[in-house]
Amino acid sequence: MSTSISLETIQSGILEKGEAALKQIQQSNTLADLDQVRVSVLGKKGTLSEALKALGQVSAEDRPKLGALANEWKSKIESAIETKKNALEILEIEASLQKTKIDVTIPSRKKHAGSIHPVTSTIRKVSQVLGRIGFDVTVGPEIETDFLNFEAVNIPKDHPARDMQDTFFMGPGVVLRSQTSPVQMRAMRAEKWPIRILCPGAVYRNDSDATHSPMFHQIEGLWVDQKVSMSDLKGTLDFFAKEMFGSETKIRLRPSYFPFVEPGAEVDVSCAICGGRNHKCPVCKGTGWLEILGAGMVHPRLFELAGYNAGEISGFAFGMGVERIAMLMHDIPDLRLMFQGDQRFLKQF
Ligand code: DAH
Repeated sequence: MSTSISLETIQSGILEKGEAALKQIQQSNTLADLDQVRVSVLGKKGTLSEALKALGQVSAEDRPKLGALANEWKSKIESAIETKKNALEILEIEASLQKTKIDVTIPSRKKHAGSIHPVTSTIRKVSQVLGRIGFDVTVGPEIETDFLNFEAVNIPKDHPARDMQDTFFMGPGVVLRSQTSPVQMRAMRAEKWPIRILCPGAVYRNDSDATHSPMFHQIEGLWVDQKVSMSDLKGTLDFFAKEMFGSETKIRLRPSYFPFVEPGAEVDVSCAICGGRNHKCPVCKGTGWLEILGAGMVHPRLFELAGYNAGEISGFAFGMGVERIAMLMHDIPDLRLMFQGDQRFLKQF
């Protein structure tokens, strides 16, 4: 059988296709491109495989030469593909790292840390100020007996003061306390005098408008000892007012009636906004004074009910609305803002 194609022609064909393949490998930009080249050269129908088919057409002695050449190119191409593949893989990893790069220098989003509610901060401030002159904080329950909420603080059944405080009745003999005054009686029944306490907490009344909320807070004060006098009350409240509202603040006591004290008074502080000089002042309405609490000398009846000897001791008590104090301190126009949970309001504190 004569050879129809010369050895040289086949050799140069392999050489030519091999060189072309190396070039294509070099030019591949992606792993997918590279794989296409591999298939087109080394695959079953690849150019190198096609060239080797001509092997059958050369003489027996030339065949090994041609086979060796073909194998040489095959491994050359395989190793070129391997090298290129490694290089492309590194590039692809780098590119994907670039895409997902995290800039650790970007400032983080601020977390809103929340703030202290004005009711809480006012209770804390009052406790801290009066704590400095010996008042200890104590608390009582919000669900209270009718007896302690009223009778024990000298508000008998049918007493008009029960109407003054529109009480929520929970059941027979049980109320949501309408004032913190029952804590006075709880404290006196629990321990012997001397007593000097503050009782902050929530109280409830069936009332709701810009200055009344069905739930609000009071702080009750009680000082019982031998020879506690009205001037001790005035001195304590004067100190309190100056610490809370500024050293220029004055207080005045107006006679008033509360069943659990005798004599009783309503206590005003001088208006820090206008100092009484602006008759159009929206805060004090031009009077120069703002009412902040009720107070008085503890009624002897309470000592009797507590089991104390009323002839031995005396005492004073006072009660203030926490929201009212907070509104005056922070210039808050509407009580209801305190309980709506609106962030725009709360984050100012
Ligand atoms: N309990 C009264 C109220 O809720 C406030 C009060 C007035 C408390 C005079 C007192 C006091 O201790 O002496 O309106």
